Amino acid sequence: MSGRPLLVMEQVTKRFGAVTAVESVSLGIPENAFFALLGPSGCGKTTLLRMIAGFERPTSGRILLDGEDLVPVPPNRRPVNMVFQSYAVFPHMNVWKNVAYGLEVTGVPRPEIERRVAEALALVRMEGLESRMPHQLSGGQKQRVALARALVKRPRLLLLDEPLSALDRRLREEMQLELVRLRHEVGITFVLVTHDQDEALSMADTIAVMEHGRVLQVADPRTLYESPKTRFVADFIGTANLFEGRVVERRDAHARVELEGLGALLLPEAAVNGRPHLTLALRPEKWRIDPETPPRADLVLEAHILEVAYHGDASRLFLDARGRRLVATVHNSRRGGDPRLVPGTACYLGLDAADLVVLED
Ligand SMILES: Nc1ncnc2c1ncn2[C@@H]1O[C@H](COP(=O)(O)OP(=O)(O)OP(=O)(O)O)[C@@H](O)[C@H]1O
Ligand SMILES: [Mg+2]
Repeated sequence: MSGRPLLVMEQVTKRFGAVTAVESVSLGIPENAFFALLGPSGCGKTTLLRMIAGFERPTSGRILLDGEDLVPVPPNRRPVNMVFQSYAVFPHMNVWKNVAYGLEVTGVPRPEIERRVAEALALVRMEGLESRMPHQLSGGQKQRVALARALVKRPRLLLLDEPLSALDRRLREEMQLELVRLRHEVGITFVLVTHDQDEALSMADTIAVMEHGRVLQVADPRTLYESPKTRFVADFIGTANLFEGRVVERRDAHARVELEGLGALLLPEAAVNGRPHLTLALRPEKWRIDPETPPRADLVLEAHILEVAYHGDASRLFLDARGRRLVATVHNSRRGGDPRLVPGTACYLGLDAADLVVLED
């Protein structure tokens, strides 16, 4: 079974009348992966999941599971389960019944149902709440029942459509950890849809970024964050300072690149790839900020702090350097933060060429 992905999508397109919801998507999802689909509202994430689950038929393209065409297989015959964004639990059934229902309707023998429901409830840590009705549960508990209902069927592939978006932050983080733990315990392949980049970065081993029905980049979280390929990905995953760069000189496998009148620095020709103009991205935490002395760096700017947004663990600084607006992150590693970094003050910003990402567009 090694090598071949569990799920393969080949140029899958879905049109609803004049709307192209998913456009020519090709993807491979390996067995046991925690795969995230990330993108803004309306980019086609749910439609993609619904095609995998069998609730929508692709307009064109193929979907293969273990090498077999899934498209003619009805949803209830696919080894795939989907957890919806809204809590899909039956309001008139208690927790136990909710989880058992999917097994009862397929005629699984009673003792096996008992065993598997107990197992599924233990996985989502809902033991002892079997006789509660849904209205007696919190949102997070209801969502766990929905998850247990999907897990009890032992799908090969579990599709999760923004399952945590209605939860408060604390519960959300708890459930994120639980989902990651579950994945290791049960050996199911997870596909998680989210528009929350932090959630995707912290949970998934592979992320596909979508925009307007297309997949723009598929990579592990670190690559996606540190080496985004396009402006959209750079800006959608985290925050980025984007610069237009102009090559002013080439020599010795290096190019001297001028950044919008802020100064110039040397980049390896391998990254510049012969182009005369470039778009470059810099993550806000990569700046070296010093309120007093110019830091040692490939390029040093003098800047003014315009605004400071305090986030507790870190602060985001909005700065001006020669009329160019920049964003920088400082970690509040000392209690109270740095009292010198306040609006209206000047500081130095240092930038190293190695921290700049050369984008493709
Ligand atoms: N049944 C339908 N009929 C017509 N258009 C549809 C249908 N379902 C989805 N669409 C359209 O397809 C596009 C993608 O929708 P989809 O629900 O897949 O987006 P999404 O990425 O899940 O968005 P969100 O993050 O808001 O849930 C949207 O423009 C939507 O309006
Ligand atoms: Mg959706």
